[in-house]
Amino acid sequence: MSRYHIAILPGDGIGKDVMDAARIVLDTIALDAEYLPGDIGWECWKNEGNPLPDRTKQLLRETNCCLFGAITSKPNQDAQKELKPALQGKGIVYASPIVQLRQEFNLHTNIRPCKAYPGNPLNYRDDIDLVIFRENTEDLYTGVEFRPVPKPVFDALMTHKKMKAFATTPLDEMAISCRIITKKASQTIIRNAFQYAQQHKRKSVTLVEKPNVLRETSGLMLEEGRKIAAEYPSIPFKEVNVDAMCMWLVKNPQDYDILVSSNMFGDIISDLAAQLVGGLGFASSGNIGDSYAVFEPTHGSAPKYAGQYKVNPMAMLLTVKLMLEWLGEKKLAAHLEQAIAQVIKEGKVRTYDMGGTNTTLDVARAVASTFEKR
Ligand code: NAI
Ligand code: MG
Repeated sequence: MSRYHIAILPGDGIGKDVMDAARIVLDTIALDAEYLPGDIGWECWKNEGNPLPDRTKQLLRETNCCLFGAITSKPNQDAQKELKPALQGKGIVYASPIVQLRQEFNLHTNIRPCKAYPGNPLNYRDDIDLVIFRENTEDLYTGVEFRPVPKPVFDALMTHKKMKAFATTPLDEMAISCRIITKKASQTIIRNAFQYAQQHKRKSVTLVEKPNVLRETSGLMLEEGRKIAAEYPSIPFKEVNVDAMCMWLVKNPQDYDILVSSNMFGDIISDLAAQLVGGLGFASSGNIGDSYAVFEPTHGSAPKYAGQYKVNPMAMLLTVKLMLEWLGEKKLAAHLEQAIAQVIKEGKVRTYDMGGTNTTLDVARAVASTFEKR
């Protein structure tokens, strides 16, 4: 009986390519685990009308954690057209499987490290080492949206004096998305950021919001942030507006360390931060709950490269490192990171994005053999 049971969801497009790379490395480092493959993504949507089948959710419930590749998702109209004929016209609505996973398994904390490894020609600067904590279950991602706006919703909103500006707009010429922020989720994400900062001896925590405009939602996060910061007096706490943060991340990224934010702003700043350290080919992430976690590179399925084994697997291999840390395999995680860093530094095996001609699997094999030699 293996120590761990890990669900493996390659998904669509390059999700499969980078999962093959992950398996090469996992087999080499000999983690005592059984890998249980599952279905997710566009094929499931087309054939079953559900990109996250119940059997996959069941698989996740029976495993310790999940390693996920990437999925394809398309706008509503395309999604409907691609449904198999027997499922069309039944009012089946597409919902992103990864957002569903985050919400259903309450994977409240999305952790996204962005670290410049020495020798990476794509680094914006060599001294960047950021970790972004993105709230993962609420904000504009709750899916509470209206178009057309139902009359009762409109009438209720009209009690707010700022709604007067829209009093004469026809209900079918308006769309509304709700930004829902709770005290509980704000406390959880901010506390996790501080705990991580303490455990990893990091130099500061920065809350990235927009409380000068979003006075209630960002305001609530800021209030909770200040209370929690007071419990960690040795860790400097900064408050930066999200627009200014984008500017500072380009100007002086080395001055920042742990960033914590809500779902949407966290998503935006993490793509910006990823590009500072080599782009999507280097961006790893974990969706972490109280007792379960789903690990995934932050990139999507990059359809134009699907099945070509061209893309950079480093994001996925760094994701495996995050998974090992979460499982408590700290030594294996550290050794894997050293092997990744060494391959980057030596610069002999590189995918196209780094100016090389090697394949996804060449890079995985280089990391695996470096790991073995160390
Ligand atoms: P994407 O991340 O798939 O690709 C954008 C571009 O980034 C690619 O064309 C490629 O040039 C580059 N890239 C991505 N991963 C790379 C890697 N590992 N190495 C080197 N270069 C890499 O984003 P895009 O094109 O916006 O979306 C494609 C599909 O993926 C869509 O259907 C989208 O909905 C989905 N998606 C899924 C995500 C997920 O599974 N969590 C996240 C983001 C997008
Ligand atoms: Mg994103």
